[in-house]
Amino acid sequence: MTSKNILVLPGDGIGREIVAEAVKVLGWVGSRPGISLTIEEGLIGGSAYDATGVPLPEETVARAKKADAVLLGAVGGPQWDKLDFSLRPERGLLGIRKALDLYCNLRPAQVFSPLIDASPLKREVVQGIDIMVVRELSSGIYFGEPRGVETLPDGRRRGFNTLSYTSDEIERIARRAFEIARKRNRKVCSVDKANVLESTGLWREVVSELGRRDYPDVTLSHMYVDNAAMQLLRNPRQFDCIVTTNMFGDILSDEASMLTGSIGMLPSASLGDHNALYEPIHGSAPDIAGKGIANPLATVLSVAMMLRYSLARPVEADLIEKAVNQVLDQGLRTADIMQPGAHQVGTGTMGDAVMQALQTEK
Ligand code: IPM
Ligand code: MG
Repeated sequence: MTSKNILVLPGDGIGREIVAEAVKVLGWVGSRPGISLTIEEGLIGGSAYDATGVPLPEETVARAKKADAVLLGAVGGPQWDKLDFSLRPERGLLGIRKALDLYCNLRPAQVFSPLIDASPLKREVVQGIDIMVVRELSSGIYFGEPRGVETLPDGRRRGFNTLSYTSDEIERIARRAFEIARKRNRKVCSVDKANVLESTGLWREVVSELGRRDYPDVTLSHMYVDNAAMQLLRNPRQFDCIVTTNMFGDILSDEASMLTGSIGMLPSASLGDHNALYEPIHGSAPDIAGKGIANPLATVLSVAMMLRYSLARPVEADLIEKAVNQVLDQGLRTADIMQPGAHQVGTGTMGDAVMQALQTEK
C-alpha cells in the first residue's frame, strides 16, 4: 500500500467549485487497491490575501514542498486588481512556481472527438491534433531582473522587464521536451524569436547543441514565435511537441487550447525535480464564479496528469480520461462547451457524471 499526500489549493473565483469535483475523483483514486490518499487544503491567491495579508503564505509553500503533489484551482479576480503587483493573486501562483522550482509546464492540447465541432476552426483542420506544449515556467521575462516602473528625470515614466535565460535553464527544459518527445513521435519544435532577441538566440543554440549531442533520434525544428502562432491555426497537425519560453508558452498554449474547442477542457502539469503542481490552464473566471456552471473537466483531467507524472498510477489516469470521454459521449456539456442537441449541466452534475462513469468502469 502506498500512501500519498495531496495538497489542494482551490484559490479564487471558480477555483473552489471545480476543485471540489476533482476532489471527488481523488476520493475514487484513494479507494482503489494499493493506494491511500491524504488530502489537505491550503490558501493561495486573493483568498489567501484576504485571510493572511499575502497571496502566498509561507505555510502554503512549506506544505506544498512536503506534499507528493499539489492540485490548484485558479487565482485572481477584479477585487484584487488594484493591489500592488507584489500582493496580487497572480503573485501567489508565480511565487509557488518559483519556490518549488517548477520549471517544466506541460500543456497538452488534444481534441476530444465528441467536442470536435466546438472548435471555432474547421473539423478538417483540428481533427486528430495531439500537441504537447512544453513551457519553461520558472524563468524568462516573468522573473527577470531588473523590473519595475521608474520615473525619469523629465517626469516621464518608464516600465521595464528583463528577458533572461541562462544556458542551464534552457538545457533542463529542452531535455524534458526531448524526453517527452521520445515517448511520443520523436519530434520537437523549439519556438523562439532568435532573429530579434539575444536571449532566445542563446535558447536556439543550446537546444540545437543538446539535440545533436544527446537526442539525435529526435527530429528538432525551430520556429519564430510569430510564425508558430500562425502555423498553429493554418496547420496544427504539423506539431507534436513544442518547447518554448515562459511568455511565448503562456500565449501559444491559450491559442492551442482553442483548437480543442474549449479552454475549459485543458489540464496542465508543472514539474520540477522534486515537486509537482497540477492545474487547469484556464483562469478563475470571476464572471461566472459561484453560479455552479463552470466546467470542472480540466481540473479532473489535471488529476489524471497527477496520477501519471507524480503518483505512478497510469491505469487510473487512463480510466479518468476514459470517464471524461464517456460523459461527453453521453451528451453532457457545461455551458462553455454547449452544443446544439446536447444536454447542459452544471459543475456538480458534471462531476457526479464522471464519478458515475468511474464507478461503473471495469
Ligand atoms: C497561466 C496564467 C498565468 C501565467 C497567470 C495567471 C499569472 O495565464 O498559467 O497561463 O501567466 O502564467
Ligand atoms: Mg496563461
